[in-house]
Amino acid sequence: MAQLWGGRFTKETDKLVYAFNASISFDKRFYRQDITGSIAHVTMLEKQGILTGEEKQAIIGGLEGILRDVEEGTLAITEEYEDIHSFVEAVLIERIGEPGKKLHTGRSRNDQVALDMKLYTREEVKETDNLVGELLEAILKIMDENLDTYMPGFTHLQKAQPVTLAHHMGAYFEMFWRDHIRLLGLYDRMNTCPLGSGALAGTTYPLDREYTARLLGFDGPTLNSMDGVSDRDYLVEFLSDLSLVMMHLSRFSEEIILWNSNEYQFVEIDDAYSTGSSIMPQKKNPDIAELVRGKTGRVYGALQALLTTMKGIPLAYNKDMQEDKEWAFDAMDTARGCVRLFTGMLETMEFHKDRMEASARHGFTNATDAADYLVNRGVAFRDAHGIVGQLVLTCIERGIALDELPLEEYQKICPVFEEDIYEAISLKTCVDKRVTIGAPGREAMEQVLKTYHKAMDNWKKDEK
Ligand code: ARG
Repeated sequence: MAQLWGGRFTKETDKLVYAFNASISFDKRFYRQDITGSIAHVTMLEKQGILTGEEKQAIIGGLEGILRDVEEGTLAITEEYEDIHSFVEAVLIERIGEPGKKLHTGRSRNDQVALDMKLYTREEVKETDNLVGELLEAILKIMDENLDTYMPGFTHLQKAQPVTLAHHMGAYFEMFWRDHIRLLGLYDRMNTCPLGSGALAGTTYPLDREYTARLLGFDGPTLNSMDGVSDRDYLVEFLSDLSLVMMHLSRFSEEIILWNSNEYQFVEIDDAYSTGSSIMPQKKNPDIAELVRGKTGRVYGALQALLTTMKGIPLAYNKDMQEDKEWAFDAMDTARGCVRLFTGMLETMEFHKDRMEASARHGFTNATDAADYLVNRGVAFRDAHGIVGQLVLTCIERGIALDELPLEEYQKICPVFEEDIYEAISLKTCVDKRVTIGAPGREAMEQVLKTYHKAMDNWKKDEK
């Protein structure tokens, strides 16, 4: 067992206590961030005259060696150390001797871990955002190709009014675009550097915190050292953002599961993203979509756990905060994996346009438009509603769609109907007459698509 604070204790810490306290099994995942932070710290210490040039060189050389060896697999991060910080420092001292003992000058593990977690999370925010970008591209492609693919729009899971596949997909574009905007905003809000906060009250060394902040790509240092070591708000925000991403993915998954069912057959999930049953040979199950839906709970759980952990913690650092990691890491891995797989599933999914259109035609989704037809010819809406209700009933009895009912039947119920009723209630008319912005009509959709493409292009430009 190797810990940094052995001097104050007389007997060996009980093994169980030690294991309970240790975090290396999970904080080893940010070894790279820990070393990057240390290199910035040492660079600053030398600039400020706290370390000599040789000491700095020796330490940085040692740290880079450790990084290389861990990455090449020749140096294992073993659990005999309490945490990743102790591991790196101990190996450094073992390798370079005296200068290694100066690495931790003007620093505490409290500001060190606050920095490591922030650096790690910041990268995750970026990567997740990029994956959300790929998902948005996939959705946009489906939209571009399906402006005239008619399908039923639902309320209460009942066919309601006709929309297009492009319009339906557009709702998800909106959701994931908001997710993207949230991640962007989070990146900006969280981008301050806690390094130099010390244990809680800064240090007496003349540290240049602006300098380390800049070296590490932050906008500046955190402005209160007590908050610097104990702020985990950004992580709560990230878990909340990921929960929303998962909620959106889960809703989308649920629809795909329905659409892929024998009853709907609106889509067919590619073989690569479905699995068979061990007993029922006819089955092809939408496992990936189901798993995405199922994993949503884990991510919500991580958010709840962190909120609960943080709520009772007095300032400043307390060991409770070590609990910010395991679930958060799990949530980050889960959400990232889900976005990636979902995008792949979507890109390879086949849409059965004919089935969608037939479903829209046979669900009386044009009933509102038939009523509007009468209203436009002077019938009061309430009366028109009743008349079309009767027509629907007749059609249900005969097992036909509204556009299959002969004109005489229309006129029997209401003489205002004329031959042009068929044109008025065609899916194309029903959709294309809805041209207020946000509606599924082609004209409105084309305008919206232009906005989406521009937004995506600007995003890609900003990346460069
Ligand atoms: N493993 C600890 C954590 O994750 C590192 C900070 C330790 N600081 C302390 N004062 N014990 O929070």
